[in-house]
Amino acid sequence: MKRIVCIILTVVTLAALAACGARNKSIDYLVLVNKENKLPDDWEEKLETVTVKNSLGDDVEVEKEAYGAYLKLKDALAAEDVRVDLDSARRSVAEQQRIWDDFMEKYGETYTKRTVAVPGYSEHHTGLALDLYLNIDGEDVYYNEDMVEYPEVWEKIHAKLAEYGFILRYLEGKEAITGYGYEPWHIRYVGSAEIAKEIADRGVTFEEYLGRLPEGDVAPPKD
Ligand code: DAL
Ligand code: ZN
Repeated sequence: MKRIVCIILTVVTLAALAACGARNKSIDYLVLVNKENKLPDDWEEKLETVTVKNSLGDDVEVEKEAYGAYLKLKDALAAEDVRVDLDSARRSVAEQQRIWDDFMEKYGETYTKRTVAVPGYSEHHTGLALDLYLNIDGEDVYYNEDMVEYPEVWEKIHAKLAEYGFILRYLEGKEAITGYGYEPWHIRYVGSAEIAKEIADRGVTFEEYLGRLPEGDVAPPKD
């Protein structure tokens, strides 16, 4: 009898360990980081990432499970002759500060506030937000002002996101809720295709899905 109990316990323990290994259980894939909600303090301790090189030779760090989902998305897109790569995913607060400073110098305050999060309040800190860039006819296209010239390509990309657990984060016309202008390149992993599909089907922002609308005025500044 003792032996049978022992065997059952071992099987249950092994099954539990296998389930744990399948996903990084400790992070909240539905974490909300936006202009009113900063990165949770203990986030870094729980986060597991991989670092990969993009076609430009830059290192890009991504949360582990989100990266697996991205690879599947990338393959599915390639099968339709749409080529994407990762421009930026997880960023430290210091990196976000560098981007903020660079945008302020190049584009000025209005565009920066509409496009770049204040360091500490970027969804990129989570490792779950991915900025894509395009490869069009063999040429990499990675500047924002060039990428927006390909709406038909983005349409094909956006149509595939939910199947792999991603949503388009900054929707056109929803700037008063998200706090940012439309960003066709910024996608967010939410941990499950079911949730991503529900968000896409309802046409809502992540904030609306979570029932966490901004309390203050987060609208980006006008030109
Ligand atoms: N581009 C998004 C808003 C960020 O900087 O996190
Ligand atoms: Zn982004």
